[in-house]
Amino acid sequence: MTTYNIAVLPGDGIGPEITEQAVRVLRALPLDLNMQTAHVGGAAYDAHGHPLPPETLSLAKNAHAILFGAVGDWKYDKLERALRPEQAILGLRKEMGLFANFRPAMLFAELAEASSLRPEIVAGLDILIVRELTGDIYFGQPRGIRVVENGPFTGDREGFDTMHYAETEVRRIAHVAFQAAQKRNRRVCSVDKANVLETSQLWREVMISVAAEYPDVELSHMYVDNAAMQLVRAPKEFDVIVTGNLFGDILSDAAAMLTGSIGMLPSASLNAANQGLYEPIHGSAPDIAGKNIANPLATILSAAMLLRYSLNAPELAQRVEAAVQAVLQQGLRTADIKQEGSTLVSTSEMGDAVLKALK
Ligand code: IPM
Ligand code: MG
Repeated sequence: MTTYNIAVLPGDGIGPEITEQAVRVLRALPLDLNMQTAHVGGAAYDAHGHPLPPETLSLAKNAHAILFGAVGDWKYDKLERALRPEQAILGLRKEMGLFANFRPAMLFAELAEASSLRPEIVAGLDILIVRELTGDIYFGQPRGIRVVENGPFTGDREGFDTMHYAETEVRRIAHVAFQAAQKRNRRVCSVDKANVLETSQLWREVMISVAAEYPDVELSHMYVDNAAMQLVRAPKEFDVIVTGNLFGDILSDAAAMLTGSIGMLPSASLNAANQGLYEPIHGSAPDIAGKNIANPLATILSAAMLLRYSLNAPELAQRVEAAVQAVLQQGLRTADIKQEGSTLVSTSEMGDAVLKALK
Protein backbone atom coordinates (compact mmCIF):
# COMPACT_ATOMS: atom_id res chain seq x y z
CA MET A 1 0.00 0.00 0.00
CA THR A 2 1.31 3.47 -0.86
CA THR A 3 2.00 5.64 2.15
CA TYR A 4 0.52 9.07 1.67
CA ASN A 5 1.90 12.10 3.49
CA ILE A 6 -0.83 14.37 4.72
CA ALA A 7 0.03 17.73 6.26
CA VAL A 8 -2.60 18.72 8.79
CA LEU A 9 -2.73 22.49 9.36
CA PRO A 10 -5.54 23.25 11.82
CA GLY A 11 -4.88 27.00 12.16
CA ASP A 12 -6.94 29.33 14.31
CA GLY A 13 -10.36 29.71 15.90
CA ILE A 14 -12.52 26.66 15.25
CA GLY A 15 -9.81 25.26 12.92
CA PRO A 16 -8.38 22.75 15.42
CA GLU A 17 -11.73 21.28 16.52
CA ILE A 18 -13.10 20.81 13.01
CA THR A 19 -9.89 19.35 11.54
CA GLU A 20 -9.74 16.94 14.47
CA GLN A 21 -13.02 15.40 13.33
CA ALA A 22 -11.86 15.13 9.72
CA VAL A 23 -8.62 13.49 10.86
CA ARG A 24 -10.63 10.91 12.81
CA VAL A 25 -12.58 10.13 9.65
CA LEU A 26 -9.43 9.74 7.55
CA ARG A 27 -7.87 7.48 10.17
CA ALA A 28 -10.89 5.19 10.08
CA LEU A 29 -10.34 4.39 6.39
CA PRO A 30 -8.24 1.53 4.99
CA LEU A 31 -5.34 3.73 3.94
CA ASP A 32 -1.72 4.09 4.94
CA LEU A 33 -1.55 7.74 5.94
CA ASN A 34 1.38 9.56 7.46
CA MET A 35 -0.35 12.57 9.00
CA GLN A 36 1.77 15.34 10.48
CA THR A 37 0.45 18.47 12.09
CA ALA A 38 1.97 21.97 12.01
CA HIS A 39 1.04 25.48 13.08
CA VAL A 40 -0.35 27.90 10.54
CA GLY A 41 -1.87 31.39 10.65
CA GLY A 42 -2.17 33.20 13.97
CA ALA A 43 -1.24 30.03 15.85
CA ALA A 44 2.02 29.92 13.90
CA TYR A 45 2.62 33.61 14.51
CA ASP A 46 2.23 33.03 18.25
CA ALA A 47 4.52 29.99 18.23
CA HIS A 48 7.15 31.04 15.66
CA GLY A 49 6.61 34.73 14.88
CA HIS A 50 5.35 34.09 11.32
CA PRO A 51 1.98 32.92 9.91
CA LEU A 52 3.68 30.54 7.49
CA PRO A 53 6.96 29.41 9.07
CA PRO A 54 9.49 27.54 6.90
CA GLU A 55 8.82 24.24 8.74
CA THR A 56 5.13 24.46 7.91
CA LEU A 57 5.78 25.35 4.29
CA SER A 58 8.20 22.47 3.78
CA LEU A 59 5.85 20.00 5.47
CA ALA A 60 3.15 21.17 3.06
CA LYS A 61 5.40 21.01 0.00
CA ASN A 62 6.43 17.45 0.82
CA ALA A 63 2.88 16.24 1.35
CA HIS A 64 0.58 14.62 -1.17
CA ALA A 65 -2.19 16.67 0.29
CA ILE A 66 -2.87 19.28 2.93
CA LEU A 67 -5.86 19.30 5.22
CA PHE A 68 -6.35 22.90 6.25
CA GLY A 69 -8.68 24.26 8.92
CA ALA A 70 -9.04 28.02 8.96
CA VAL A 71 -6.94 31.06 9.83
CA GLY A 72 -7.61 34.48 11.31
CA ASP A 73 -8.60 36.17 14.53
CA TRP A 74 -9.39 39.80 15.35
CA LYS A 75 -6.51 39.87 17.75
CA TYR A 76 -4.08 39.90 14.81
CA ASP A 77 -5.79 42.81 13.01
CA LYS A 78 -3.19 45.30 14.15
CA LEU A 79 -0.21 43.36 12.78
CA GLU A 80 1.41 44.55 9.56
CA ARG A 81 -0.08 42.82 6.53
CA ALA A 82 2.87 40.45 5.98
CA LEU A 83 2.38 38.91 9.42
CA ARG A 84 -1.40 38.53 9.40
CA PRO A 85 -2.89 35.04 9.46
CA GLU A 86 -4.41 35.38 5.93
CA GLN A 87 -0.87 35.55 4.54
CA ALA A 88 -0.47 31.88 5.43
CA ILE A 89 -3.15 30.71 3.04
CA LEU A 90 -2.12 33.20 0.35
CA GLY A 91 1.51 32.08 0.78
CA LEU A 92 0.65 28.39 0.52
CA ARG A 93 -1.39 28.99 -2.64
CA LYS A 94 1.40 30.99 -4.26
CA GLU A 95 4.40 28.94 -3.09
CA MET A 96 2.80 25.66 -4.10
CA GLY A 97 1.23 26.95 -7.31
CA LEU A 98 -2.26 25.91 -6.24
CA PHE A 99 -3.90 27.73 -9.12
CA ALA A 100 -7.09 25.71 -9.53
CA ASN A 101 -9.68 26.22 -6.84
CA PHE A 102 -12.82 24.08 -6.85
CA ARG A 103 -15.73 25.42 -4.84
CA PRO A 104 -18.79 23.28 -5.24
CA ALA A 105 -22.06 24.69 -3.97
CA MET A 106 -24.55 21.94 -3.54
CA LEU A 107 -27.61 21.69 -1.44
CA PHE A 108 -28.28 18.61 0.60
CA ALA A 109 -32.01 17.92 0.21
CA GLU A 110 -32.28 17.67 4.00
CA LEU A 111 -31.19 21.31 4.32
CA ALA A 112 -33.36 22.95 1.62
CA GLU A 113 -35.20 24.96 4.28
CA ALA A 114 -31.95 26.49 5.52
CA SER A 115 -31.49 28.65 2.43
CA SER A 116 -32.56 32.28 2.54
CA LEU A 117 -34.05 31.72 -0.93
CA ARG A 118 -37.28 29.87 -1.57
CA PRO A 119 -36.76 26.09 -1.59
CA GLU A 120 -37.87 25.71 -5.22
CA ILE A 121 -35.15 28.10 -6.36
CA VAL A 122 -32.39 26.10 -4.66
CA ALA A 123 -33.71 22.52 -4.36
CA GLY A 124 -31.26 20.21 -6.07
CA LEU A 125 -28.69 22.96 -6.55
CA ASP A 126 -25.34 21.62 -7.73
CA ILE A 127 -22.95 24.14 -9.21
CA LEU A 128 -19.18 24.29 -9.30
CA ILE A 129 -17.15 27.47 -9.15
CA VAL A 130 -13.67 27.08 -10.61
CA ARG A 131 -11.70 30.03 -9.30
CA GLU A 132 -8.20 30.93 -10.51
CA LEU A 133 -6.23 31.24 -7.30
CA THR A 134 -2.66 32.42 -7.86
CA GLY A 135 -3.00 35.44 -10.13
CA ASP A 136 -5.09 38.55 -10.65
CA ILE A 137 -5.14 41.61 -8.44
CA TYR A 138 -4.42 39.40 -5.41
CA PHE A 139 -0.79 39.02 -6.39
CA GLY A 140 -0.25 41.65 -9.10
CA GLN A 141 2.64 44.08 -8.85
CA PRO A 142 3.07 46.95 -8.37
CA ARG A 143 0.90 47.52 -5.34
CA GLY A 144 1.16 49.70 -2.30
CA ILE A 145 0.27 52.97 -0.70
CA ARG A 146 1.93 56.11 -2.07
CA VAL A 147 1.52 59.86 -2.29
CA VAL A 148 -0.25 61.16 -5.41
CA GLU A 149 2.01 63.35 -7.50
CA ASN A 150 -0.36 64.79 -10.13
CA GLY A 151 -3.96 65.77 -10.68
CA PRO A 152 -6.74 66.82 -8.36
CA PHE A 153 -5.63 64.60 -5.49
CA THR A 154 -1.97 65.67 -5.42
CA GLY A 155 -0.51 65.22 -1.97
CA ASP A 156 -3.12 62.66 -0.89
CA ARG A 157 -2.12 59.17 0.03
CA GLU A 158 -3.54 56.58 -2.38
CA GLY A 159 -3.76 52.81 -2.34
CA PHE A 160 -3.12 50.95 -5.59
CA ASP A 161 -3.11 47.36 -6.84
CA THR A 162 -2.56 45.79 -10.23
CA MET A 163 -4.89 43.41 -12.01
CA HIS A 164 -3.30 41.21 -14.66
CA TYR A 165 -3.52 37.76 -16.17
CA ALA A 166 -1.04 36.13 -18.52
CA GLU A 167 -2.46 34.02 -21.35
CA THR A 168 -0.94 30.86 -19.89
CA GLU A 169 -2.64 31.44 -16.57
CA VAL A 170 -6.01 31.84 -18.24
CA ARG A 171 -5.46 28.87 -20.53
CA ARG A 172 -4.61 26.44 -17.74
CA ILE A 173 -7.62 27.36 -15.62
CA ALA A 174 -9.80 27.16 -18.74
CA HIS A 175 -8.67 23.55 -19.30
CA VAL A 176 -9.46 22.72 -15.68
CA ALA A 177 -12.96 24.18 -16.03
CA PHE A 178 -13.75 22.48 -19.35
CA GLN A 179 -12.53 19.13 -18.05
CA ALA A 180 -14.60 19.50 -14.91
CA ALA A 181 -17.64 20.32 -17.06
CA GLN A 182 -17.08 17.18 -19.13
CA LYS A 183 -17.69 15.16 -15.96
CA ARG A 184 -20.85 17.18 -15.18
CA ASN A 185 -23.45 18.87 -17.38
CA ARG A 186 -21.01 20.13 -20.02
CA ARG A 187 -21.65 23.82 -19.58
CA VAL A 188 -19.08 26.45 -18.66
CA CYS A 189 -19.98 30.04 -17.91
CA SER A 190 -16.93 32.28 -17.91
CA VAL A 191 -17.38 35.32 -15.70
CA ASP A 192 -15.46 38.52 -16.39
CA LYS A 193 -15.79 42.28 -16.72
CA ALA A 194 -14.80 42.51 -20.38
CA ASN A 195 -16.91 45.64 -20.90
CA VAL A 196 -14.50 47.58 -18.70
CA LEU A 197 -11.23 45.72 -18.12
CA GLU A 198 -8.42 44.77 -20.53
CA THR A 199 -7.55 41.86 -18.25
CA SER A 200 -11.04 40.51 -18.85
CA GLN A 201 -10.89 41.15 -22.58
CA LEU A 202 -7.85 38.88 -22.84
CA TRP A 203 -9.44 36.38 -20.43
CA ARG A 204 -12.46 36.12 -22.72
CA GLU A 205 -10.36 35.70 -25.89
CA VAL A 206 -8.41 32.85 -24.30
CA MET A 207 -11.57 31.15 -22.99
CA ILE A 208 -13.00 31.20 -26.52
CA SER A 209 -9.83 29.75 -28.02
CA VAL A 210 -9.57 26.93 -25.44
CA ALA A 211 -13.27 26.13 -25.91
CA ALA A 212 -12.48 25.02 -29.45
CA GLU A 213 -10.69 22.01 -27.95
CA TYR A 214 -13.85 20.98 -26.10
CA PRO A 215 -16.61 20.85 -28.71
CA ASP A 216 -18.75 18.79 -26.32
CA VAL A 217 -18.85 21.63 -23.78
CA GLU A 218 -20.95 24.75 -24.23
CA LEU A 219 -19.22 28.02 -23.31
CA SER A 220 -21.09 31.16 -22.35
CA HIS A 221 -19.88 34.48 -20.95
CA MET A 222 -21.31 36.73 -18.30
CA TYR A 223 -20.25 40.00 -16.74
CA VAL A 224 -19.59 39.63 -13.07
CA ASP A 225 -22.30 42.03 -11.93
CA ASN A 226 -24.88 40.12 -13.93
CA ALA A 227 -23.48 36.83 -12.64
CA ALA A 228 -24.02 38.00 -9.06
CA MET A 229 -27.62 38.76 -9.95
CA GLN A 230 -28.24 35.48 -11.80
CA LEU A 231 -26.74 33.52 -8.91
CA VAL A 232 -29.51 34.68 -6.62
CA ARG A 233 -32.22 34.79 -9.30
CA ALA A 234 -31.84 31.37 -10.91
CA PRO A 235 -28.75 29.61 -9.57
CA LYS A 236 -29.66 26.24 -11.06
CA GLU A 237 -29.08 27.66 -14.56
CA PHE A 238 -25.35 27.32 -13.92
CA ASP A 239 -23.22 24.21 -14.20
CA VAL A 240 -19.53 25.25 -14.02
CA ILE A 241 -18.57 28.88 -13.47
CA VAL A 242 -14.95 29.75 -14.25
CA THR A 243 -13.58 33.08 -13.13
CA GLY A 244 -10.57 34.98 -11.85
CA ASN A 245 -9.29 35.26 -8.33
CA LEU A 246 -11.13 38.38 -7.16
CA PHE A 247 -14.47 37.73 -8.82
CA GLY A 248 -14.29 34.12 -7.68
CA ASP A 249 -13.75 35.18 -4.09
CA ILE A 250 -16.90 37.27 -4.13
CA LEU A 251 -19.16 34.98 -6.16
CA SER A 252 -18.21 31.89 -4.18
CA ASP A 253 -19.43 33.47 -0.94
CA ALA A 254 -22.72 34.33 -2.60
CA ALA A 255 -22.99 30.79 -3.99
CA ALA A 256 -22.19 29.33 -0.58
CA MET A 257 -25.01 31.26 1.02
CA LEU A 258 -27.50 29.84 -1.46
CA THR A 259 -27.12 26.55 0.31
CA GLY A 260 -28.03 28.08 3.65
CA SER A 261 -25.02 26.86 5.50
CA ILE A 262 -21.51 27.89 4.79
CA GLY A 263 -20.66 25.22 7.39
CA MET A 264 -21.36 22.50 4.82
CA LEU A 265 -19.14 23.46 1.90
CA PRO A 266 -15.71 22.00 1.12
CA SER A 267 -13.07 23.18 -1.33
CA ALA A 268 -9.99 21.93 -3.10
CA SER A 269 -7.03 23.88 -4.49
CA LEU A 270 -4.80 21.94 -6.84
CA ASN A 271 -1.50 22.48 -8.59
CA ALA A 272 -0.16 20.99 -11.80
CA ALA A 273 1.27 18.00 -9.88
CA ASN A 274 -2.13 17.23 -8.33
CA GLN A 275 -0.96 18.18 -4.89
CA GLY A 276 -3.90 19.73 -3.19
CA LEU A 277 -4.93 21.84 -0.28
CA TYR A 278 -8.36 21.00 1.12
CA GLU A 279 -10.27 23.35 3.36
CA PRO A 280 -13.79 24.26 4.35
CA ILE A 281 -14.79 27.47 2.66
CA HIS A 282 -15.90 29.05 5.93
CA GLY A 283 -13.54 31.00 8.17
CA SER A 284 -12.13 30.55 11.64
CA ALA A 285 -15.21 31.87 13.53
CA PRO A 286 -13.23 33.01 16.59
CA ASP A 287 -16.48 33.90 18.39
CA ILE A 288 -17.41 30.23 18.76
CA ALA A 289 -13.91 28.76 19.00
CA GLY A 290 -13.25 26.12 21.64
CA LYS A 291 -16.95 25.66 22.43
CA ASN A 292 -17.36 22.37 20.57
CA ILE A 293 -20.35 23.74 18.65
CA ALA A 294 -18.89 24.38 15.17
CA ASN A 295 -20.01 22.30 12.20
CA PRO A 296 -17.22 19.88 11.17
CA LEU A 297 -19.02 18.64 8.04
CA ALA A 298 -17.40 21.07 5.58
CA THR A 299 -13.99 19.88 6.73
CA ILE A 300 -15.04 16.23 6.60
CA LEU A 301 -16.34 16.83 3.07
CA SER A 302 -13.02 18.52 2.25
CA ALA A 303 -11.32 15.31 3.38
CA ALA A 304 -13.56 13.48 0.90
CA MET A 305 -12.32 15.80 -1.86
CA LEU A 306 -8.77 15.05 -0.71
CA LEU A 307 -9.44 11.34 -1.16
CA ARG A 308 -10.90 11.90 -4.60
CA TYR A 309 -8.42 14.39 -6.09
CA SER A 310 -5.05 13.83 -4.43
CA LEU A 311 -5.25 10.18 -3.33
CA ASN A 312 -7.23 8.92 -6.30
CA ALA A 313 -9.62 7.05 -3.99
CA PRO A 314 -13.08 7.93 -5.35
CA GLU A 315 -14.81 5.00 -3.60
CA LEU A 316 -13.55 6.12 -0.22
CA ALA A 317 -14.57 9.69 -1.02
CA GLN A 318 -18.06 8.44 -1.77
CA ARG A 319 -18.15 6.49 1.45
CA VAL A 320 -17.39 9.62 3.43
CA GLU A 321 -19.97 11.66 1.51
CA ALA A 322 -22.57 8.96 2.05
CA ALA A 323 -21.80 8.96 5.77
CA VAL A 324 -22.38 12.73 5.90
CA GLN A 325 -25.66 12.30 4.05
CA ALA A 326 -26.64 9.56 6.50
CA VAL A 327 -26.12 11.71 9.60
CA LEU A 328 -28.20 14.47 8.04
CA GLN A 329 -30.94 11.93 7.32
CA GLN A 330 -30.77 10.84 10.94
CA GLY A 331 -31.70 14.43 11.79
CA LEU A 332 -28.42 15.32 13.49
CA ARG A 333 -27.56 19.01 13.24
CA THR A 334 -24.95 21.33 14.67
CA ALA A 335 -26.24 24.73 15.81
CA ASP A 336 -25.63 26.48 12.46
CA ILE A 337 -28.03 24.16 10.61
CA LYS A 338 -30.45 23.43 13.44
CA GLN A 339 -34.05 23.02 12.28
CA GLU A 340 -37.25 22.33 14.12
CA GLY A 341 -37.53 18.68 15.03
CA SER A 342 -33.84 17.92 14.48
CA THR A 343 -31.35 16.80 17.12
CA LEU A 344 -28.74 19.30 18.21
CA VAL A 345 -25.24 17.80 18.40
CA SER A 346 -21.80 19.15 19.23
CA THR A 347 -18.77 19.19 16.95
CA SER A 348 -17.37 15.99 18.41
CA GLU A 349 -20.76 14.25 18.51
CA MET A 350 -21.16 15.03 14.82
CA GLY A 351 -17.73 13.47 14.27
CA ASP A 352 -18.79 10.40 16.28
CA ALA A 353 -21.93 10.06 14.17
CA VAL A 354 -20.05 10.28 10.87
CA LEU A 355 -17.58 7.65 12.08
CA LYS A 356 -20.44 5.38 13.06
CA ALA A 357 -22.15 5.88 9.69
CA LEU A 358 -18.90 5.00 7.90
CA LYS A 359 -18.95 1.49 9.29
C1 IPM B 1 -11.14 32.75 0.57
C2 IPM B 1 -10.77 33.78 1.59
C3 IPM B 1 -9.36 34.27 1.31
C4 IPM B 1 -9.36 34.89 -0.08
C5 IPM B 1 -8.79 35.23 2.35
C6 IPM B 1 -8.79 34.61 3.74
C7 IPM B 1 -7.40 35.69 2.01
O1 IPM B 1 -11.70 34.83 1.57
O2 IPM B 1 -10.45 31.69 0.53
O3 IPM B 1 -12.10 32.96 -0.15
O4 IPM B 1 -9.68 36.08 -0.24
O5 IPM B 1 -9.03 34.19 -1.03
MG1 MG C 1 -13.39 34.48 0.29
